[in-house]
Amino acid sequence: MPRPAPLYSTAFRTVFSRMDPERAHSLVVAGLRIAHRGGVGRLLEALTRPDPSLSTHALGQQWPSPFGLAAGFDKGAVAVLPLGSLGFGHIEIGTVTARAQPGNERPRLFRLLADRALINRMGFNNDGAAAVRTRLERTRRLLTALRTAGRHAPMIGVNIGKTKIVPLDGAVEDYLLSARELAPLADYLVVNVSSPNTPGLRQLQQIDTLAPLLRAVGEEADAAAGAHVPLLVKISPDLADDDVDAVADLVAQLRLDGIIATNTTISREGLTSSAETLSAAGMGGLSGPVLAERSTEILVRLRRRLPTETTIVSVGGVTTAEDVAERLRLGADLVQGYSGFVYQGPFWVRRINRGLARMADTSLSGSSRRG
Ligand SMILES: Cc1cc2nc3c(=O)[nH]c(=O)nc-3n(C[C@H](O)[C@H](O)[C@H](O)COP(=O)(O)O)c2cc1C
Repeated sequence: MPRPAPLYSTAFRTVFSRMDPERAHSLVVAGLRIAHRGGVGRLLEALTRPDPSLSTHALGQQWPSPFGLAAGFDKGAVAVLPLGSLGFGHIEIGTVTARAQPGNERPRLFRLLADRALINRMGFNNDGAAAVRTRLERTRRLLTALRTAGRHAPMIGVNIGKTKIVPLDGAVEDYLLSARELAPLADYLVVNVSSPNTPGLRQLQQIDTLAPLLRAVGEEADAAAGAHVPLLVKISPDLADDDVDAVADLVAQLRLDGIIATNTTISREGLTSSAETLSAAGMGGLSGPVLAERSTEILVRLRRRLPTETTIVSVGGVTTAEDVAERLRLGADLVQGYSGFVYQGPFWVRRINRGLARMADTSLSGSSRRG
C-alpha cells in the first residue's frame, strides 16, 4: 500500500479521520473551490498536469490521462475545475436524478480505516437534473476556454440514476428526463443501475428491463444533443458471472459505447475491520482495495466477451499507478478511482499520472531496445 503525502497523512490522522466523513468531504470540496478561486488552481495545474505521453484515445475522443475520478465525489458538478486542476483526465459527475432529493438520513458515510475502505448509503443526494444542467453549462464554457488556451481540461462524464420516489415501472421516463437535460453537456453519459442504496435500482440490470431502458436513453441523449453522445452502463460487482455475460451481450447487441465496472458491493467479505466497526456502519455499498479482485475479474470477463471497439472503464479498489497500469494491460480503456482519493489526498492523482508516465517511458525504451 503506498504512503500518502506526509502533509495529507498528518492532516488525515489528526483532523479528517476524527471528523464525520461527510463533513470532511464537504470541507475538502469547499477548500478546493476556495483555493481554485484564489488562483492556486493555476499553480496546482502546473504541478499536476498529466504528461502529454498519457494522452489517450477512447470513446472517439482524446483524454489527457486514462485515469479519472469515479462518480459520487462531485455529485452536483460543483467542483469540476478545482478537481481537474489536480490532474484527473476526466471527472464523472453524479449520480444525478431527474428530481432533486435529499438522500438517506445521516450518518451515511463511514470509514473502515483498517481496510482503507468506505461504506456509503448516500442514496443519490443531489440537486436534480435542471440545477446541475445550469452549473454544467458554465463549467463547459470554462473548460472550452481552458482548452483553447492550451491548458489542462478534464473530460466530463455524466452519471444518471432513478429518482427514489419514482416507482420502477416509471424508471425509463425518469432517466429520459435527466438524459434530455444533461446529455448535451456530457462527453459521455452513464446509466447507473448498480448503486445498492436506491431500493430496487439494481433490478434494472435484468436484461428485459435493461434493454428498453438503454435503447430509450441512447435515442433521447442523441436527439437532445443533436449528435451521438457515448453511452455506457455501470454495473455492480455483485452480479453473478452469467449476468455479467448477459449484460455484455446486450451491450454488444445494442452497440452501446461501453461498460463501467464496477460500482460498490454489498458484500463484507475480505475485510479486516472488526465486527463492531462493520455493525456501527451498517448497510451500504463497500468500496476500496477489497473490491479490487472482483472488479478485475469482471474486467477480464468483459474484455474476453466484448468486441474491441466497446470501451471498458475499470473502477474498484485502484490505489497505485501499478494498479491502473494493470487494469489497462487487462483491457480497460479508461480507469477510475474514488476511495483512494479519500485516503491518499489531493496529490494522489499526480502520483498515479507520474507513475504511469514513468512506466510508459520504461516500456517504450524496452520495446525500442527490443526493436
Ligand atoms: C461516498 C461514495 C459515493 C458514491 N456515489 C456514487 C454515485 O452517486 N454513483 C455511482 O455510480 N457510483 C458512486 N460511488 C461508487 C464509485 O463511483 C466507485 O464505483 C466505487 O467507489 C468503487 O471505486 P473505489 O474502490 O475506487 O472507491 C460512490 C462511492 C462512494 C465511496
